[in-house]
Amino acid sequence: MKTAGQLVVLGSINADHILNLERFPAPGETLTGHRYQVAFGGKGANQAVAAGRSGADIAFIACVGDDDTGERVRQQLQKDRVDITPVSVVKGDATGVALIFVNGDGENVIGIHAGANSSLSPEMVQAERERIRGARALLMQLESPLESVLAAAQIARESDTLTVLNPAPARALSDELLALIDIITPNETEAEGLTGVAVKDDASAAQAAQVLHDKGIKTVLITLGKRGVWLSDNGNGQRIPGFTVKAVDTIAAGDTFNGALVTAILEGKALVHAIRFAHAAAAIAVTREGAQPSVPWREEIDAFLAKQE
Ligand code: RIB
Repeated sequence: MKTAGQLVVLGSINADHILNLERFPAPGETLTGHRYQVAFGGKGANQAVAAGRSGADIAFIACVGDDDTGERVRQQLQKDRVDITPVSVVKGDATGVALIFVNGDGENVIGIHAGANSSLSPEMVQAERERIRGARALLMQLESPLESVLAAAQIARESDTLTVLNPAPARALSDELLALIDIITPNETEAEGLTGVAVKDDASAAQAAQVLHDKGIKTVLITLGKRGVWLSDNGNGQRIPGFTVKAVDTIAAGDTFNGALVTAILEGKALVHAIRFAHAAAAIAVTREGAQPSVPWREEIDAFLAKQE
C-alpha cells in the first residue's frame, strides 16, 4: 500500500564553488574571474529542492559529511520542504564538492569531489526499503554509486513505484538497470552515450528514443536545450518547445526540470502538461545564478505560466 511520502529522491549533495569568468581558461592558462560564490548544489539535492519548492511531498536519500557544510545543507533542505530523515551523516568524510566555471554565455564546466556521496551504499538503500516501496515515484541521477541506484530501482519495481532516471552525468549503464526504469530524461549527449545515436534533430531523437524503448523504458524525454524536449511515449513522439528567456547561468536547469516534472506527474498532469510546467520552472532557473538559489517556488512557476497564456 502506498502510505509513505509520494516522492523519494535518491542522489548527491554538493557544495558548489562557482567562479564566473568571461571565458573558460585553456590548459595551462590562468584567468581571473569577476564573481565567486559558494552555493548548495549536487544533482540529487537540486532535484529534491526543485520537487519540494514546486509542491511535492518529498523525502531525500543522500549522504553528507560530518562537517559544517553538511549540517547547513540539512537545515536548508528542511526549509525547502524536503524530509531529510533518510539523509545520513558520514563520520570522518567531507560533504561533496563541485568546482564550477561559468563563462560569459552562461555555460558551465564542472569537476566533482564525491566525498560523502560515495558512501551511499546498497545497504543504506535497503534500510530505506519501506520508504521506497511506499512512495509513488523514485527519482534518481548518476552522481551516486551505480550499485545503489540499481538496488533502489529493484525495490521500486517490485512495489510498482514509478522509477524516473535522469542519467546525468553521462555514465555507461547496464541493460539490467535500464529495464527497471519507467521514465528516462537524458540530454542529447547522454542519449547518444546510451544509444549510440547522435541526437541532432527530431528524427534522430526519435531513433534514440526507440533504442531506449527497446531496452524496456516506456517513456523517454530527451532534453534538447533551446529546442525543448523530445517526448516519446511508447514510441509516439513529439517535440515540446520550451520558453525563450535570457539565460545568465544554466547550472541546475536540468535538475529543476526533473524535480518539477515529477511533481507535476504526481499531481496527475498529462505528460505534455507536466513537461510544460517543468519547462517553466527551468526557464526561471536559468535567469538566476547558482544551483539551488536559482530553483523557483510553486507560486513563481504558476505566475510564469499564467503570463504565457
Ligand atoms: O547539475 C548541476 C549540479 O551538478 C551542480 O549543482 C553540481 O553540484 C553538480 O553536481
